[in-house]
Amino acid sequence: MKKIILGLLIGISIPFAAGYLFVISGGMPVATKGEPLPLEHFIVKRALHAAFKNDLGKQAPFELTGDHVAAAAKIYKNNCGGCHGVSDHENLMAKGMFPPAPQFFQPDKDVKDDPIGEIYWKVKNGIRLTGMPGYVDILNEQELWEVSLFLKNGATIPEEAKK
Ligand code: HEC
Repeated sequence: MKKIILGLLIGISIPFAAGYLFVISGGMPVATKGEPLPLEHFIVKRALHAAFKNDLGKQAPFELTGDHVAAAAKIYKNNCGGCHGVSDHENLMAKGMFPPAPQFFQPDKDVKDDPIGEIYWKVKNGIRLTGMPGYVDILNEQELWEVSLFLKNGATIPEEAKK
């Protein structure tokens, strides 16, 4: 019986020891240019989806019209543009991040196909271990929705608001 328990303990310890050796030998990529670990994207994507899935059906309490448009553009410019870009110029800082901050003004990088509840969740809570901050303590509820709607309407932002 003792031998079985000892065997089990050794069997359980081996993966932990191997993982520890992997980390302390520098195998774990920590530089932003490092390659993702096997399954990293797969696991993180699923974890993120599990986190916001209850908010997918959430609807914005107002539409992005009138004063909300200018307010949203201003919020975006002051809080988000530094990483996500304010025009279709390439943002070099974003490229140095892991993962890189998506450039919402670049073709095919907008989030207009994502449910508004998902965008709102990400803006409010941020995405841990990426550069994406959570804005829950920075923007109020109305501002969170305004900037989320601004991104949802990414392809049809009036030229005036873009400036
Ligand atoms: C310091 C840099 C930084 C700032 C400032 C920032 N973000 Fe982000 N954001 C990121 C990064 C990096 C990601 C990519 C995260 C990922 O791929 O998991 C991201 C992802 C996102 C996503 C998800 C995109 C997708 O394809 O699903 C949304 C939506 C978003 N940001 C909105 C905003 C808004 C709105 C603001 C301002 C209120 C903002 N971000 C400010 C770095 C930033």
